[in-house]
Amino acid sequence: MKFLILLLFVPGFINGWRIFHRGRHVGGNLGLPGGKEKEIELGSVEVAEEWFPQKLDHFNPTDGRTWLQRFYKNEQYYDPSTGGPIFLMIGGEGEASVKWMTKGAWIDYAKKFGALCFQLEHRYYGKSHPTKDLSTKNLQYLTSQQALADLAEFISAMNQRYGLSTDAKWIAFGGSYPGSLAAWLRLKYPHLVHGSMSASGPLLAEVDFSDYFKVVDESLSTYSDDCVNAIKEGTAEIDILLRHMIGQRNLNKKFKLCDPVEKYVNNPNDIANLYETLSGNFAGVVQYNKDNRIGGNQEVSNITIDTICDIMTNQKLGPPVDRLAAVNSLLLSVYDQKCLDYKYDKMIDNMRNGSWDSEIAEGGRQWTYQTCTEFGFFQTSSYTPQVFGNDFPVEFFIQQCVDIFGPKYNSSFVNSAAERTNILYGALDIEVTNVVFVHGSIDPWHALGITKTINQGAPAIYIKGTAHCANMYPPSDNDLPELKAAREQIIEYIDRWIRL
Ligand SMILES: *[C@@H]1O[C@H](CO)[C@@H](O)[C@H](O)[C@H]1NC(C)=O
Ligand SMILES: *[C@@H]1O[C@H](CO)[C@@H](O)[C@H](O)[C@H]1NC(C)=O
Ligand SMILES: *[C@@H]1O[C@H](CO)[C@@H](O)[C@H](O)[C@H]1NC(C)=O
Repeated sequence: MKFLILLLFVPGFINGWRIFHRGRHVGGNLGLPGGKEKEIELGSVEVAEEWFPQKLDHFNPTDGRTWLQRFYKNEQYYDPSTGGPIFLMIGGEGEASVKWMTKGAWIDYAKKFGALCFQLEHRYYGKSHPTKDLSTKNLQYLTSQQALADLAEFISAMNQRYGLSTDAKWIAFGGSYPGSLAAWLRLKYPHLVHGSMSASGPLLAEVDFSDYFKVVDESLSTYSDDCVNAIKEGTAEIDILLRHMIGQRNLNKKFKLCDPVEKYVNNPNDIANLYETLSGNFAGVVQYNKDNRIGGNQEVSNITIDTICDIMTNQKLGPPVDRLAAVNSLLLSVYDQKCLDYKYDKMIDNMRNGSWDSEIAEGGRQWTYQTCTEFGFFQTSSYTPQVFGNDFPVEFFIQQCVDIFGPKYNSSFVNSAAERTNILYGALDIEVTNVVFVHGSIDPWHALGITKTINQGAPAIYIKGTAHCANMYPPSDNDLPELKAAREQIIEYIDRWIRL
């Protein structure tokens, strides 16, 4: 859990929106692989950390500036005698992890196919720093197009370095935003990458991503409708408590608010942030329900839809608002938080810090920039009936783009940015072959992806009952049969692409 590692180095406390914000988990959306195998540490013979001289701006041939991009390499499964394929794990909206170099479904595939394995960290995340800081001006080189060109340059360079023939088969893997990149890489550079496994990748850039919470509701209702109804009633009780002083003081205590809400009740941004944070308690659990992330913080991965719905439906805990508070206390406690921070200005101040040394440089600022300039993906409360209230509409998120990056990043800007992305990649009409799109029914992100096979050349696997990127983690004894079948099916696709 990247989150815990962060805690060791960052003094002070980390609050709610810093754990799970806008559908993004601190450290990035792909967790670390769990499982029983021994952990291999960096510096071992198996895995090497290296640095690749990369162009800053791929789209301006007169700009010769370069920087060093981190990558990991694992040769131990590679079998050049059989012309083993090259596997590429695409880095995304968090630091690249060496743990993925020896664990995960793709490593099982690498063993099977005798593949050489690389993982390229995404520019601006982790230790891959193209510019001296993260000022808004310097973030202009943070785009998915630049990231795809990084991957293309990297593949070409490795082909040369390893004397790989032009027949060498590169297969890309990615989960969450890198799942989108895996599909787009095959779309834009089909001569360099021969197939892609795209897990939980959103392909449609959508500013008002209201369906996110629709899926959260549906996923919670797989436990029971009572669970969803209790959340709805609890939220309505918060609305009422917010209307008077005694209620407000009550909320301070119940929800362990860092700042007394009676002082900020007239600030719509603070209230929006409070509701959004509380909804995030549920979204974060749903998005990672029962997956096989690394056992570093077992306490966190132990919390599932069952855990929170057990609480929400337990009448002994008091009225629904008290049960919402109990879920909140549980999450604060497993994440080692003293109080729930909902103050908008604090969040914005934090997000505005453009220093590589700031806490938010773990990726929160960078990902927010990408949402404001490329994707939207704002998980708003505009879906009805919205069990988490309707206090965090799309305007609230656009306001954040403006407050963090400047007045230019207003609604016209964000809307045309998302439209541009859809034009560049084709959104859900993407014309591509040799890509498998994998999604889970519990994962809210599936709402922006391809979940049905439209084109046999680019099939979809829709796994009933699993969450975000579930197929990428190592197998576990508790895996659903559909998940096991999906992993097998992916082997067949890879086998087919390699033989082409
Ligand atoms: C996680 O859940 C398992 C099984 O329910 C339990 O045995 C274990 O004690 C839990 N671990 C933590 C750290 O809560
Ligand atoms: C940004 O973060 C760094 C590192 O935590 C800190 O030293 C600096 O004061 C912050 N800058 C602002 C403007 O808050
Ligand atoms: C957004 O800002 C631009 C200038 O950068 C302006 O032309 C446009 O009217 C603004 N749009 C809105 C909705 O305020």
